[in-house]
Amino acid sequence: MCGIVGYSGPGNSVGPIIEGLSRLEYRGYDSAGICLKIDNQLQIIKKEGKLDNLKFLIEEQKPFSHTGIGHTRWATHGAVTSDNAHPHGNELFAVVHNGIIENASSLKKELQSEGFQFKSQTDSEVFLVLLTKFFKQSNDVLKSISKAFSTITGNSAFVIIEKASDKLYCLKRSAPLVVGENKEKREAFVSSDPFALVGFAPRIYFPQDEVICESVISPVEVKINFYELDLSPSNRYKFQTNAMTLDATTKGPYEHFMLKEIHEQPKLINKLAAYYIKNEGRKILDDLRNFEAPFWHLTACGTAWHAGLVIKNFFEQINRQRSSVEIASEFRYKNPIIKKEEVGLFISQSGETADTLACQELCAQKGISSFSIVNVEGSTLFRNSNKNFLIHAGVEIGVASTKAFTLQVLTGYLMSRAMEGSLDDADLFKEIQLLSTRIEELCAGGDKIKEVAEKIYYNKGFIFTGRGKYFPISLEGALKLKEIAYVHAEGYAAGELKHGPIALIDEDIVNIAIVGPELFEKTVSNVEEVKARRGKIVVIGPRNSEELRHLSDFYIELDFEGLPNLSPLLVNVALQFLAYHIAFLKGTDIDKPRNLAKSVTVE
Ligand code: AGP
Repeated sequence: MCGIVGYSGPGNSVGPIIEGLSRLEYRGYDSAGICLKIDNQLQIIKKEGKLDNLKFLIEEQKPFSHTGIGHTRWATHGAVTSDNAHPHGNELFAVVHNGIIENASSLKKELQSEGFQFKSQTDSEVFLVLLTKFFKQSNDVLKSISKAFSTITGNSAFVIIEKASDKLYCLKRSAPLVVGENKEKREAFVSSDPFALVGFAPRIYFPQDEVICESVISPVEVKINFYELDLSPSNRYKFQTNAMTLDATTKGPYEHFMLKEIHEQPKLINKLAAYYIKNEGRKILDDLRNFEAPFWHLTACGTAWHAGLVIKNFFEQINRQRSSVEIASEFRYKNPIIKKEEVGLFISQSGETADTLACQELCAQKGISSFSIVNVEGSTLFRNSNKNFLIHAGVEIGVASTKAFTLQVLTGYLMSRAMEGSLDDADLFKEIQLLSTRIEELCAGGDKIKEVAEKIYYNKGFIFTGRGKYFPISLEGALKLKEIAYVHAEGYAAGELKHGPIALIDEDIVNIAIVGPELFEKTVSNVEEVKARRGKIVVIGPRNSEELRHLSDFYIELDFEGLPNLSPLLVNVALQFLAYHIAFLKGTDIDKPRNLAKSVTVE
């Protein structure tokens, strides 16, 4: 997902912009650029590749500018080239864009027929040319921004600077954008993520869709104005202090953010349980007591979808409530059957995933309630949902989601126990604390998993298998390995192997077999099927089983005792470590895997 940072104030805009973009690198990008207003000219410096390439160019020129905008681009329209990098500018304006202009090609043809020239293959440049066209007709910036934005379709966020002033303009539709303010320093900021403004802007505004924000710096103050598209004053924005801290930006003693975030899980699990069972989150859950929906539509993408599969199991087994867990990019186009009184439950770490947001919008149009399990307060999903269940994971920098998955599932479990009215049952807090302790032990004693990784990392394919509540974990384990180690891996219901995948098994294929205490014998027989075909077997299962020791090439023993509901989360952390160590041995970019973005805000 693209990153946006803008600054206007008495200081040099270069520092905050580059620092802010550095903090957003984790979201994935393939080029970076900055536009600075210097001596009444708009100077653009941009380069494909990593942010360091841009920093090198800036170091050489050492520019000073009171007003500027920066961008990290994750290519959607147009190849990864310097020309296609943002900002896009001309003699009047410079623009950065996050999202997709869906009617860009027809508009571009029309503008070209009117004689307008284009320098890039991007859809974003169409907005710049429209803005310029309308400004030349009206000589009014706000009017031109409004008219250009009303002409385009699709989900987008834009930040604009102009040669004629030090103002920052921005607006958005179903894309993340915040405006920051530091009154003491008379500074204004814009970003696609409040995290980029931590330490710079103590006050953060969250404008709603189609609200034009104008930051004006005067010799005595900074002023943020908000307008509707008809240019009437707008009050459609929320304000909050930027409470985020910076410690998330450092890896501490860890080699990678992903490893740090795996190790954070025990502490975060205890914190989340205390928040929802004993502290301010309790009243949010108490609203769910005896809540019943005729049907739950869970929708999400990727890891969040896997979390939904685990949560569905709680809703069925504990609450006997029916649900479906749909991949958001499928659900939104399948004309789903949605009836009154049903509930949409949207699971998303970022709260900005385009497909998941589209599902929330679809459910809202059908008139059903929207619940979210989300990490980012103030995100689009958060603001569009009727009830939010925050997972309080803190900023998750690693593109491969780890702590967010664990806390999404735990939040879903707590919701289930709240509906059952059993939040005060002694077993609940005890099991959660035990889970935390077991994961702590896993974090402390990871050598065994590392040794297994050393023995299997070179294999060409991996089949993760599990039954029942472990089947979603086999999917999640496979995804983790795929996305950070770039090896082929798939998750399968263990009972499905004989229906086709077993044809794949040979000595080059590794079966990562999750064997829980439940359905133990049945799952063991699935492992035996693989053994009989000379597949390499890594078992993750209960301790001290001679049967598993005999069957497996490698045996990762876990203590399932006392975890009747949450053992899938313990297994999953073992798989997070396994994926991490395999990726480490393969030398991939673990925190920023190739081709991936942390939050996919485009379809
Ligand atoms: C997780 O490891 C992946 N990076 C990805 O599948 C992610 O879970 C998915 O894109 C959904 O993101 P969200 O939770 O922010 O909606």
